[in-house]
Amino acid sequence: MVVVGINAFHGDASAVIAVNGRIVAAVEEERFTRIKHWAGMPIESVRCCLEIAGLGASEVNHWAVNNDNKAHRLRKLGYMLKGAARPNLIMSRVRNRVKKSSVEQELVKAFGGKTQQFSVHHIEHHLSHLASTFYPSGFSKALAVSIDGFGDFSSAAWGLGGDNGIEPEGYVYFPHSLGIFYQAVTQYLGFRDYGDEYKVMGLAPYGNPLYLDSLNQLLSVNSTSVYQLNLKYFRHHNQPISFSWERGRPVFDSLYSPLLEQLLGPSRLPEEPLEQRHRNIAASAQKLFENCLFSMLNGLYKKYKVSNLALAGGCAMNSVANGKISERTGFNRVYIQPAAGDAGGAMGAALELNRQLGGNIVRDPMPNAYLGPGFSSNSIKSLLNDNQSRIESAGCRVRFLELDDLIAKIADALAGGRVVGWFQGRMEWGARALGNRSILGDPRCADMQQILNHKIKRRESFRPFAPSILREHVSQWFEVDDEVPYMQKVYKIQRHRRAEIPAVTHVDGSGRLQTVTVKQNPLYFRLIEAFYQKTGVPLLLNTSFNENEPIVCTPQEALECFLRTRMDVLALGQVMLSRESE
Ligand SMILES: [Fe+2]
Repeated sequence: MVVVGINAFHGDASAVIAVNGRIVAAVEEERFTRIKHWAGMPIESVRCCLEIAGLGASEVNHWAVNNDNKAHRLRKLGYMLKGAARPNLIMSRVRNRVKKSSVEQELVKAFGGKTQQFSVHHIEHHLSHLASTFYPSGFSKALAVSIDGFGDFSSAAWGLGGDNGIEPEGYVYFPHSLGIFYQAVTQYLGFRDYGDEYKVMGLAPYGNPLYLDSLNQLLSVNSTSVYQLNLKYFRHHNQPISFSWERGRPVFDSLYSPLLEQLLGPSRLPEEPLEQRHRNIAASAQKLFENCLFSMLNGLYKKYKVSNLALAGGCAMNSVANGKISERTGFNRVYIQPAAGDAGGAMGAALELNRQLGGNIVRDPMPNAYLGPGFSSNSIKSLLNDNQSRIESAGCRVRFLELDDLIAKIADALAGGRVVGWFQGRMEWGARALGNRSILGDPRCADMQQILNHKIKRRESFRPFAPSILREHVSQWFEVDDEVPYMQKVYKIQRHRRAEIPAVTHVDGSGRLQTVTVKQNPLYFRLIEAFYQKTGVPLLLNTSFNENEPIVCTPQEALECFLRTRMDVLALGQVMLSRESE
């Protein structure tokens, strides 16, 4: 059975193809449109998945979309009848529904045929999230929990997953939302772009939670361990929030009410400098988020008494909180897939539909994150031929190398403090570069952060860079011993090690690690091992291969990024380009 899952007309539009319950390809539309978090119908992602699977659109048996407007209908109706929602708010939701109902038409436009030929199924938003984490977790039994802004009139769901799959057993409904709380504070702090929450998380360790008492008024946990918003500080429940999910970057209006400014002082405009007050508010918001998350998870642990947790939804992208779950709750093992947010809903919808239709349930349907497109060495060679004069005039030397030689030379370059673009194999699924579309650096260089920001990234100085570490060395460098293949958890680096790897040590002594095994990524493993042999340090600084844009997808985009920036070396497959003048 072939099922294509889609996250459409929502942030992080994406597509996934599952063949007999196994994920064959998964990709986010932003990589093709080159606009971060692109929302709309992910047609290029669908095309890419079909191409990787070697199938045509007519060979897809079913299409699964990660929303269902029929879900929670009575609740929605009740909410509107209570007069809690104003008519214009209802209208904006109706319009959104019209757009969402056109998935079939969009498929016809792209692939021909008639709408009836496309068997489109709608899987409720949070069930899709739960499935997106439970099935790939490989756990035979686990509590799956989904927490986000909103989807299908709810902001959280949970259920016990087992041999028969997963079903939601509880929900948190509109208008209460942990994701909306964090998004509102993110906007208040002047980070206005969709998906900017990670900036608040990065800023938090520079502050003290001095505003926790004030912020406690916004959000509380009730007797059933579920969070509740104090709605007077928010606008989303009774005023139209203009937002756009169509063909572009998602845009959101302010979610907080003027009362928040009365409570915390004036909000920060994006161009205004960051003051200590802002850092303290970020620290307080992160702390409150964590407190609510852990209270909720502890309540659920008491009820279900299982030690495995599979987490999903936009809030599961909070890697700082994720790294504390085992310590602060009863859950021992925590799984989070690389696309924990809405992109991942496409995968969950596909896997859940596959189960509902009696398909094979594969225990480990996604053994690694390298599910995007890959490119042949011939296509890389012809790209370099076509651009020969540009490469020469940039003063670059081009070498075609044997694999052993490539690894040795790149490890040398890294140990010599050079910044390396590392483009290999199939592109990563999810928000993080995991060693196939990465920019790498020496974690021992104290000034590597500034060098990277100066040469390439031009990003906020408070945002940390992350380490990739050989799995077997984790316990010697971090305070825990855990497998984190997708960079979804932040852990403390051992105190005596911090000075050795300043470029990947955040101000609070933490690092958002990626553990690398030979099974998951043999080439990247060999490169880190070669660096380890040379330096005694089994880690590399790993940041995404991009320059204020979505992560590069094609060799052409990697080459353009290399030529445009001041990156020292580029490894495009087995071809090494280096700026000889540097
Ligand atoms: Fe969601």
